[in-house]
Amino acid sequence: MSEICKNWTQWLKSNRFAGQTPEMQEQTMRWLEAVRDVIMVYAEIKPYDVVLDIGTGTGLLAFKALELQDCKGRVIFSDMFQDCLDDCKKILDDAGIESGYELLRCPVEHIALPESTVHKALMRSVLVHVVNKQPAISEIYRVLKPGGKLCAFEPIIRSNTRYWEILDPVCIEHYDDFKRAENEIMENPLDSLCNFDETTLRTNLEIAGFSIPEVKLQEVSSRYVVQPNMVKEWFVNPPSPNQPSTKERYLKYFDEATVEKYMQDVQNYLTGREISLKTNAVFINAVK
Ligand SMILES: C[S@@+](CC[C@H](N)C(=O)[O-])C[C@H]1O[C@@H](n2cnc3c(N)ncnc32)[C@H](O)[C@@H]1O
Repeated sequence: MSEICKNWTQWLKSNRFAGQTPEMQEQTMRWLEAVRDVIMVYAEIKPYDVVLDIGTGTGLLAFKALELQDCKGRVIFSDMFQDCLDDCKKILDDAGIESGYELLRCPVEHIALPESTVHKALMRSVLVHVVNKQPAISEIYRVLKPGGKLCAFEPIIRSNTRYWEILDPVCIEHYDDFKRAENEIMENPLDSLCNFDETTLRTNLEIAGFSIPEVKLQEVSSRYVVQPNMVKEWFVNPPSPNQPSTKERYLKYFDEATVEKYMQDVQNYLTGREISLKTNAVFINAVK
């Protein structure tokens, strides 16, 4: 577990915004709502559908589903971690919501539901934290009713802009070594964050049994001016509570002083510059 992030609720409420200005945090929230709304359009939730939000976190998708069903259906908030379910329960209790939902603690690889019982499975940014995607996707297929849908969003991190692409080799000591290390990190087949792309996901869905799944690639470009504190935050914040930070990953290749010097060089080079970043993701709409 990371020293600066003790659990998923902390990551979702705080660490994910690390290094962002208030304006960027606003944009992140608006983007999350937009992603959620696309998933809801795909899901076409009906009043009495059994809706399963897998890896619900702080309930981004489940709360919207609950609203769409006016608390009269059955929305299952599921997550592998108790802190997430406790957080959602607190929000539900504070809002006085007593019906239309269940809380279910289980990993996506072993969903604690009988087969063919779910109309809509919703998911955002969960497979990216699961090393072996196939058993997880096959498990989702198992619990869906025939005609049921998986509607999901996953970031495709391996094809995002890499640090070395936005740096000037002349200004960065050991540029080639860090470029090599970064490429190796981003292509590690054992790393859940980057061991997949839109093609492997489509294959996983087909192997699970989904016929002609829709896997829509979305490429987003963002431009902003790098602030002095941003670079350190990028390097020291973990991508999830149980994953090493970028700095910790580099420490497998270089000693502490070399990594610190690299971070300083990157900060000196980028601070005040406008950068352009490409981030990729997929929307999945798959019917059993
Ligand atoms: C990036 S968060 C996304 C949370 C939420 N879906 C959202 O869109 O805000 C990833 C979530 O997946 C959950 N998670 C991670 N690994 C999981 C697994 N193997 N099975 C089920 N949930 C998992 C985490 O607890 C966390 O809540």
